[in-house]
Amino acid sequence: MTTHRITLLPGDGIGPEITAVARLLLDAVAARHGFSLAYDERPVGAAAIDATGVPLPESTLEACRASDAVLLAAIGDPRCDSLPRELRPESGLLALRAGLGLFANLRPVRIIPALIEASSLKREVIEDVDLLVVRELIGGVYFGTPKGRVEAEGRVRAFNTMAYFDDEIDRIARVGFRLARERKGRLCSVDKANVLDVSQLWRDRVEAIHAEFPEVELSHMYVDNAAMQLVRAPRQFDVLLTSNLFGDILSDEAAMLTGSIGMLPSASLGADGPGLFEPVHGSAPDIAGQDRANPMAMVLSAAMLLRVGLQQDAAAAELEASVDRVLAAGFRTGDLAAEGATVLGCDAMGQKLLEALEA
Ligand code: IPM
Ligand code: MG
Repeated sequence: MTTHRITLLPGDGIGPEITAVARLLLDAVAARHGFSLAYDERPVGAAAIDATGVPLPESTLEACRASDAVLLAAIGDPRCDSLPRELRPESGLLALRAGLGLFANLRPVRIIPALIEASSLKREVIEDVDLLVVRELIGGVYFGTPKGRVEAEGRVRAFNTMAYFDDEIDRIARVGFRLARERKGRLCSVDKANVLDVSQLWRDRVEAIHAEFPEVELSHMYVDNAAMQLVRAPRQFDVLLTSNLFGDILSDEAAMLTGSIGMLPSASLGADGPGLFEPVHGSAPDIAGQDRANPMAMVLSAAMLLRVGLQQDAAAAELEASVDRVLAAGFRTGDLAAEGATVLGCDAMGQKLLEALEA
């Protein structure tokens, strides 16, 4: 029997609760498909700061490197907001992404018919939306230098650098074009080339790489317009290709088309080595430990891990179908609560998903 090695990173806030649900379902689906999963659970984020003093212990990174795929729940804890930046949970996540070379972040946004009323947008705007945000993940202003904070002549100045090398743009552009080719064949590259030099290089390189993918239809859009178009007419998009910061912002916006950020999975991939799979949502410290979290984005991230990370397509499809079934039957978590729906806690939702899987 094949055994896949999974590094589990429950992290902070609601992370441990939703990790428990994902693990339950992963084990069940693995048993049904004749493979097994060996977990290595490691701390990251505030949990790691508490345990070891740093947000990404070397042993956690090593464990990730040695596994077939990594499943991360969420990091972030308001207790850490006043720590020096390098000791904050977010820095651990960035170091993890960089340490594994995960330059491509894929955030699919698909409308789930049962949830259409949960969106703040009108049905006719969001019906049939099926788009994919491809976000560059280990470059741009998140990582650019110089950066810092200096005091001079009675004033304080803080700064970051938004920079890309041509080859960093080329490799993420190729990922975007390849995925567009497998989908509806349309790639929209989002930048701010009317103002930023770094965006002009982005646009030039995306144009150049387009020559390798003549069958894909390429368009460009400024990020402010893209933010508007996402809520005005989101069906126009197939693949949205963009830089680290713009992708961070646009993927939260795109997530809300589905009614809840609690439904969105993501995959972060490098040139080789294990991928990292995580929900788009954060650690939700306000509801942590209260059994109120929505575990579905985590379960869908586990499904992405099965499909993209382990090539277990049938098992992935079964997990996804269990989410669809539970929603279609009217079960909801608090974030999705609608008239007439049965609201379940995180644990109970996990049990429902398990029942749906085994039905
Ligand atoms: C995300 C998150 C992270 C990011 C934070 C937690 C560092 O918002 O994955 O979108 O900005 O990349
Ligand atoms: Mg974000």
